[in-house]
Amino acid sequence: MSADSRLIIFDTTLRDGEQSPGASMTREEKLRIAMTLEKMRVDVIEAGFAAASQGDFESINAIARAVKDSTVCSLARALDKDIEAAAGALEGSARARIHTFIATSPIHMKYKLKLEPDDVVTQAVRAVKKARQYTEDVEFSCEDAGRSDLDFLCRIIEAAIDAGATTINIPDTVGYAIPDPFGDMIGAIINRVPNADKAVFSVHCHNDLGLAVANSLSAVMQGARQVECTINGLGERAGNASLEEIVMAVRTRQDLFTVDTNIDTTQIVPASRLVSSITGFPVQPNKAIVGANAFAHESGIHQDGVLKHRETYEIMRAEDVGWNANRMVLGKHSGRNAFKTRLLDLGYAFAGDVEMADAFARFKTLADKKHDIFDEDLHALMAQASDQRDELEHIKLKHLTSQSDMGNTPKARVVLEIEGKEVVAEAFGDGPVDACFKAIDSVVNSGAQLQLYSVNAITSGTEAQGEVSVRLEKSGRIVNGAGSDTDIIVASVKAYIKALNLMMNQPQKAHPQITV
Ligand code: KIV
Ligand code: ZN
Repeated sequence: MSADSRLIIFDTTLRDGEQSPGASMTREEKLRIAMTLEKMRVDVIEAGFAAASQGDFESINAIARAVKDSTVCSLARALDKDIEAAAGALEGSARARIHTFIATSPIHMKYKLKLEPDDVVTQAVRAVKKARQYTEDVEFSCEDAGRSDLDFLCRIIEAAIDAGATTINIPDTVGYAIPDPFGDMIGAIINRVPNADKAVFSVHCHNDLGLAVANSLSAVMQGARQVECTINGLGERAGNASLEEIVMAVRTRQDLFTVDTNIDTTQIVPASRLVSSITGFPVQPNKAIVGANAFAHESGIHQDGVLKHRETYEIMRAEDVGWNANRMVLGKHSGRNAFKTRLLDLGYAFAGDVEMADAFARFKTLADKKHDIFDEDLHALMAQASDQRDELEHIKLKHLTSQSDMGNTPKARVVLEIEGKEVVAEAFGDGPVDACFKAIDSVVNSGAQLQLYSVNAITSGTEAQGEVSVRLEKSGRIVNGAGSDTDIIVASVKAYIKALNLMMNQPQKAHPQITV
């Protein structure tokens, strides 16, 4: 594929996606997502914002060292210290990109940066030159470009390319753009900037008006050759453009697009499931491409049409986006070797025999309760193992009994280990889950507010594991916990305890777009 007909897919699930409230991930989880993105043949993985915290720096470094085929990128404000942190975090990477940015809209320059436009250009040029000292692959973004003045954008972009930027990103930071004018703006910039041929033009659209994908595609039609996006559209506020929608729109409408991506689309559904189970952000059933109903036909007319000739109502094949891939893998009679091989395929490695034996024992327990074990079950099993290994686990669930008879007030008895000490708590509640949460609260006294509680089935059928997401808020801090089990009361309690542990552990970190 020639450079001009290739659409570069820049995934920012691990950076912008992680900025969504409660979506923070551990290093191990980020690494697992990065390996999946690499397997999907994502061109660029934005692994984080290195200056945010030591933890972010270390996660980026682990990804930079592990990923071989995709470019690994770190975000950096247009500040020396951020660029040095990004360069340090990317050490050991086969292909490293530094992505530096500064705001260019009048409102951001005046109120956030408190800088004159001339000073913004000077700072941008300095940052790009500094980044070029570490890598030849430098991306420059004009934050809030969607609300910036076109003449000023052309001026700063020309200067950034002269300073050595190889990718120019035009973000619609606040999700304000409308497809036609946004595409026209991208076309106008590419036409007007004299050295535009020396850089790849990129877009990064937020979904506040539900237009992130439409705006990105409109920009592609006007010459953008990189799209920044996230799995499941995860991201700040209403999220970013969703990777799966961009990739499949371009692939499905090759009659309209002169470009295509290099993505292995069969990895889309597994990646979506992984991100959802790690972040605890469920995928809505009617979500395009990856929602449970995306390929389900309900009405008789549609079913009849599909049965007679598939293309009557289907524009994509479910198997092409990974719906049917690796559906049933293991069961009660699967041996240790089959279990280990499947997990290695899914990107899990065992630190030693004890870890493997422990995971296998939990697999057998699950297989006793559930006949078919799917990849999604294995991801959930491994997510629980990593929670349990976490040495910062203050609260552990030891045992749980809940009682709910029709007509009687539900009651729960929960046995916890808190900081190594066994504690028993009992409570009544409006339902069995409420009773369990109240029992836990009576001994933990977290002061956190429950903001969201949702239950989903990981796979189909009544024996499926339930996956519960819980979101807690305390003094403006938000955490999400996910838990899974064939018993949804147990899954709920696991999710609640995970969120409480996260609330106690999670270090504060700098946000790239708030702190300057
Ligand atoms: O939305 C935005 O402007 C960003 C930039 C930092 C690229 O995320
Ligand atoms: Zn963004």
